[in-house]
Amino acid sequence: MQINVYGTAIEAAYAAADLIAERLYISPNIVLGLATGGTMESLYHHLVERHRRTGLSFRFATTFNLDEYIGLAPAHPASYRATMQRLLFDHTDIDPQRTHLPDGMSMNPDQEAVQYEAKIAEAGGIDLQLLGIGRNGHIAFNEPGTSFSSQTHVVTLDRSTQAANARFFLEGEAVPERAITMGISPILASREILLVVTGAEKRTAFSEAFLGQVNPQCPASVLQLHPNVMIYADRAAAIDVTSLNMASPNVGFDKICSRIGADNV
Ligand code: GLP
Repeated sequence: MQINVYGTAIEAAYAAADLIAERLYISPNIVLGLATGGTMESLYHHLVERHRRTGLSFRFATTFNLDEYIGLAPAHPASYRATMQRLLFDHTDIDPQRTHLPDGMSMNPDQEAVQYEAKIAEAGGIDLQLLGIGRNGHIAFNEPGTSFSSQTHVVTLDRSTQAANARFFLEGEAVPERAITMGISPILASREILLVVTGAEKRTAFSEAFLGQVNPQCPASVLQLHPNVMIYADRAAAIDVTSLNMASPNVGFDKICSRIGADNV
């Protein structure tokens, strides 16, 4: 596991975007796992910029998003489909046929979850999975307590997750109670994982995930078991990890790279 720590959230997100761009140049037909959430906004902005400025092409890439709310039509501005269109898909040369999200309007969400996972398998699995982390340590919409062997499934969101995501909805509008999410098992099956964690409100989740034991109460802690995880964090989120590393440099991470100068960590 490699942890890259930056001074600001924007720097961390841009560096993560650069890594995705690099992978796209090397493997134009890459299968990307995509994520939503505020953390990803500047990352997608940077990818769009690179597409415009340098011609970075998404034409042959295939994408699978982690999750979608149940009951939100794709046109609803807070749906993850609309979010992805607005932030990335509409501004690049990606082939719309190759962009996938679970269908939150399916009459049979359980069946949709199974079919979604089958589509990922048909595409050959995920090469590079982009992940954020919830304040309670969730990854995708796998809330605390989710089994590490979970497949793609229907989930009831924690109140705290609904509250955290209310900012993407109109004032007074209800946040959906349920979602379809990739399970922890298919996330772990990705060949590489790129986790972006920024902001002081993620500090506790980040520390629990990577300084504590692997524990289903903190779903992100399962990433300790994956052989190929790269973390891009800002100082505010990573402060406990970087201070521990300075106190005892051999804390079990392959590498902690400070991109902000050792004096500032
Ligand atoms: C949602 C998404 C997660 C994301 C999390 C954090 O719950 N399902 O995939 O990691 O939000 O989002 P934010 O970056 O807004 O804190």
